[in-house]
Amino acid sequence: MTPRPRSHFGRFVTLAALLVAVGGMTTLVSYSVTLYRLFCQATGALGTTQRVAADRAVVSARTITVSFDTNVAPGLPWRFVPVQRSVRVHLGQDTLVFFRAENLSDQTIVGHAAFNVAPGRAGRYFKKIECFCFTEERLGPHRTVEMPVQFFVDPRMAKDPDAASVTEITLSYTFFRSMHPKGAPDLARFVDRPANPAAGRQVFAEVCADCHRLHHAKVGPPLAGVFGRRAGAVAGYPYSPALAHADFVWNTKRLEAWLADPQAAVPGAEMPYHLDDKLRRRDVISYLRSLDMPAPTPARS
Ligand code: HEC
Repeated sequence: MTPRPRSHFGRFVTLAALLVAVGGMTTLVSYSVTLYRLFCQATGALGTTQRVAADRAVVSARTITVSFDTNVAPGLPWRFVPVQRSVRVHLGQDTLVFFRAENLSDQTIVGHAAFNVAPGRAGRYFKKIECFCFTEERLGPHRTVEMPVQFFVDPRMAKDPDAASVTEITLSYTFFRSMHPKGAPDLARFVDRPANPAAGRQVFAEVCADCHRLHHAKVGPPLAGVFGRRAGAVAGYPYSPALAHADFVWNTKRLEAWLADPQAAVPGAEMPYHLDDKLRRRDVISYLRSLDMPAPTPARS
């Protein structure tokens, strides 16, 4: 063998090894937000290098509203919307939000997103932790995905005379058709993301909390410890006869069916609400599951 082909082969081996390593990382990091964060911190992507452990300790009492705005450039047949219009967060508080993208066409398309934070003087305090979506992203024909973005607003903003008066920050994303579609990761990796209790806590706060508290009855019964509790079993709460006489224990499957359609799950039940979105249901169930469970309710005879 001459040295020339050997060195080609050597380069090929190095390239193959690199691709395997990158592929492995991408697979790994698609599994959890915490892992995204570790990855981003390790690689310093999107300014996360500025993030120090001390930031976590300083979750300030001050709150700020973060609104989300999305646009799609002409020529990209995608629908792209924020799942939540806005969130109210404490400075320093880790927050997870979702954006939904749908490819309306019959072809696989690669999009590329640009983002912008307004007002500009708050931009440097807006720290994204999650960094895996919204660069070059491939989306199959008629697929819909939800992409997570994890961020926090640096509490140091409150001490900056220029930015201290800001009460609302808007994060805007615009998706364009990509000029460099080769090798873009597939957004399908977010379709089967694991249930996320932190996202579930937000769903609870946004929708369930209108009627439910964790520890006392409101319109609906208290939900702390509902996981593993018998249906219709909180003493003193005026359940519908249907739920009061239901004979099962709440688990993932029961909660899933209940939240999708309470009246189908327990005919005659009177919860005037259902949650269409499967990912939201999974998140909120994982949140309920993560709450401390009380001693099991004794079975009724
Ligand atoms: C508009 C008010 C309302 C909203 C919003 C609402 N619920 Fe309910 N929920 C009720 C009522 C009322 C009941 C009691 C139903 C009955 O007695 O048939 C109930 C019952 C329940 C139960 C049964 C508890 C038990 O002790 O057996 C669960 C679980 C539950 N809700 C979960 C949720 C979750 C999770 C959300 C948010 C995704 C939610 N609910 C949103 C009103 C609401």
